[in-house]
Amino acid sequence: MITTLHDNLILPCGVKLPNRLAKAAMSEQLSDYHNRPTTELVRLYQRWADGGVGLNITGNVMVDRRALGEPCNVVVEDERDLDKLSEWAKAGKSRGGKFIMQINHPGRQSPTFVSSEPVAPSAIAVNVGVGMFARPRALTEKEILEIIERFGQTAKVALKAGFDGVQIHSAHGYLSNQFLSPLTNLRTDDWGGSAENRRRFLLEVVRSARKAMGKKAILSVKLNSEDFQKGGFSQEESMAVVQELEKEQIDLLEISGGTYEASAMIGDGQKESTKKREAYFLEYAEKVRKQVKIPLMLTGGFRTAEAMKSALADGTVDLIGLARPLAVEPDLPARILASNADAQPAARHGVGIKMFDGFVELMWYAQQLHRMGAGKDPDPNRSAWLTLLSGLWHDGISSFRLKRG
Ligand SMILES: Cc1cc2nc3c(=O)[nH]c(=O)nc-3n(C[C@H](O)[C@H](O)[C@H](O)COP(=O)(O)O)c2cc1C
Repeated sequence: MITTLHDNLILPCGVKLPNRLAKAAMSEQLSDYHNRPTTELVRLYQRWADGGVGLNITGNVMVDRRALGEPCNVVVEDERDLDKLSEWAKAGKSRGGKFIMQINHPGRQSPTFVSSEPVAPSAIAVNVGVGMFARPRALTEKEILEIIERFGQTAKVALKAGFDGVQIHSAHGYLSNQFLSPLTNLRTDDWGGSAENRRRFLLEVVRSARKAMGKKAILSVKLNSEDFQKGGFSQEESMAVVQELEKEQIDLLEISGGTYEASAMIGDGQKESTKKREAYFLEYAEKVRKQVKIPLMLTGGFRTAEAMKSALADGTVDLIGLARPLAVEPDLPARILASNADAQPAARHGVGIKMFDGFVELMWYAQQLHRMGAGKDPDPNRSAWLTLLSGLWHDGISSFRLKRG
């Protein structure tokens, strides 16, 4: 039988998604200066819910307020913001789609203006832009165990607030990915060395979240197909992790790739033929499909209804992940379902200065989210220079005003 975008999907935990389109995580940077959720977030996710997504996923929510990826990340450590979290959860699932919270710890990918001493598996700094990232301190075993507990605690609060589950961020070079990679994990204890030891952190985080939420909530993992770096987390090792995740009975595996040092997740370094075919990590997904039965979500590069339909129809994936297109066209899912609409063709946003342009591309989309949070429409003509200047201003002001503790 051929699967279509309109079909529902019943996940192993029993939760039913009404269609096959998911809004992938995009860091909104819309918390207040205490890292609390805001009315802007409620408004933004209402807009995506109205747009018809079957699964809504938050941008990364941090499990520890001492460890931020950006100054205005939401942090959930306890129940202090339960009311606003509940409002957020209610908005994101108000039209029948489901809504999960992506939970994360940035590890070494915490910029110097946010953290002067980030923590990581080993003391190896991110190698982009001089002075952008400080050399991290290697975690003690006690601290590793505490972070694993934190993931469970955040998952528990998410569920209590009304989210349908969580997604553990183990991709894009953040802490869990740092444990997986032989380039960033040089530990000689039980948390490093062999591939089995390097994946221990992720598997323990998965167990911690499952224990906190029970079997009826969605437990998803976002994983790199590979890091796209010589000597980094490879496809072979990724496949071995996938097999272990199947034993843990996770409900949804989202496939992506790349890190801050090699941003393959937004198409950098991908072959022209791959970009043309749209889904950047499709070949890897095909291999995963042959190995495991976990429901698969594929994110990165999808723009036309045709490409989305064909990835589903041949059974390679179960769910199509969309990020940047939904930052400019929040109603796209409804239009795809009604009339096979295509997203606007992908365009890169930059000022022509290499050291800034990765930042400009991400900020351009983040600023569209800020517009929607403020009740405005996205602005597809927003200038790259304006994006850069207001992005630097926003980060500067917010890191200055950030209230820690
Ligand atoms: C502004 C912005 C913020 C992002 N933040 C996150 C995030 O918090 N967590 C995550 O897993 N991926 C994040 N991503 C990556 C997207 O989820 C997605 O993997 C990537 O954009 C490729 O999909 P697309 O081609 O549909 O945009 C972000 C992307 C953008 C553009």
